[in-house]
Amino acid sequence: MKVLVTGASGSVGAPLVRRLSEQDVMTRAVVRRPESAAALEEQRLPGVEVASTDLANEAAARHLLDGIDAVFLLTANAGNQLAQEQSVIRAATEAGVRRVVKLSVGGVSPDAPLALARVHYAAEQNLAASGLPRTVLRPAFFMDNLLQFIGWIEPSGRLELPLGDGAMPMIDARDIADVAAVELHDSSTHDRELVLTGPEDLTMTQALGRIAEVVGRPLSYVDGNRTDFLRRYVADGNSPEYAEDIATLYDAILRAGYGAGTTDGVRKVTGQAPRTITDFAQAHRAAFTG
Ligand SMILES: NC(=O)c1ccc[n+]([C@@H]2O[C@H](COP(=O)([O-])OP(=O)(O)OC[C@H]3O[C@@H](n4cnc5c(N)ncnc54)[C@H](OP(=O)(O)O)[C@@H]3O)[C@@H](O)[C@H]2O)c1
Repeated sequence: MKVLVTGASGSVGAPLVRRLSEQDVMTRAVVRRPESAAALEEQRLPGVEVASTDLANEAAARHLLDGIDAVFLLTANAGNQLAQEQSVIRAATEAGVRRVVKLSVGGVSPDAPLALARVHYAAEQNLAASGLPRTVLRPAFFMDNLLQFIGWIEPSGRLELPLGDGAMPMIDARDIADVAAVELHDSSTHDRELVLTGPEDLTMTQALGRIAEVVGRPLSYVDGNRTDFLRRYVADGNSPEYAEDIATLYDAILRAGYGAGTTDGVRKVTGQAPRTITDFAQAHRAAFTG
């Protein structure tokens, strides 16, 4: 079997490519930037070939599907995200792959308040219309999101985000990768939708407190406001449109507790309990202390 993994340098794609290599599954790992391709190639993972291309390029996507049996479809939130999804789904349909495992998000709907949820909804519809056997993964807030805010942590350990006391069942991206690896092996024609969460609901105060215990550095959460968040998030290089979406997710949806509630999705598929925030902190200790 040969698998195509898109988003292969990202928080889910990177551990998935490692896992497939450990399982001796031939893998074509796709990234966009040549430097990401070079970093992946340097790892010399057995059975992994690396390609760098923009997934929105249909001719390139068709080429990527040559000899592929199953696809892990992850696209980054960007202006052309739907075009990327459609291009891969069309190429996968032409190639007649056995299964597509698509990374989506919770709250998908044609009139969702978040643009990213509307885009994933449209992509899910596209995939369903293709008739390809599919698994749709709808994960909770990634623990890995915290890594992008490490530069925001003040010397005192304070981190300001507009989440209030909203609790959410944060998930370690490695668990999403583990679920995807199992689903990619499925040769049945059954379709599945899986809501994936971590083991417990956590507020940001609790999450940072638990990480601080592991990394041996004080960390504390401070509630922030939407305006300051938007300014800093855009200054970090995110587009104003995407920043608005994330600000709404944090300040309106997660703050109000709409993200709360665990599922047994990870354990049902992998047979293992999902990783805790302590496991996550142990794996990323250097990032928090460096
Ligand atoms: N973060 C969350 O809490 C959360 C929760 C639920 C769902 N999601 C969904 O998860 C997805 C993001 O996953 P992630 O965090 O693993 O992503 P990520 O870490 O930001 O990685 C993005 C990956 O996509 C590649 N990429 C970006 N643009 C591309 C293009 N035009 N063509 C080909 N490859 C491209 C990047 O390659 P380069 O390294 O070359 O740029 C990288 O490998 C989104 O669809 C999001 O909606 C996220």
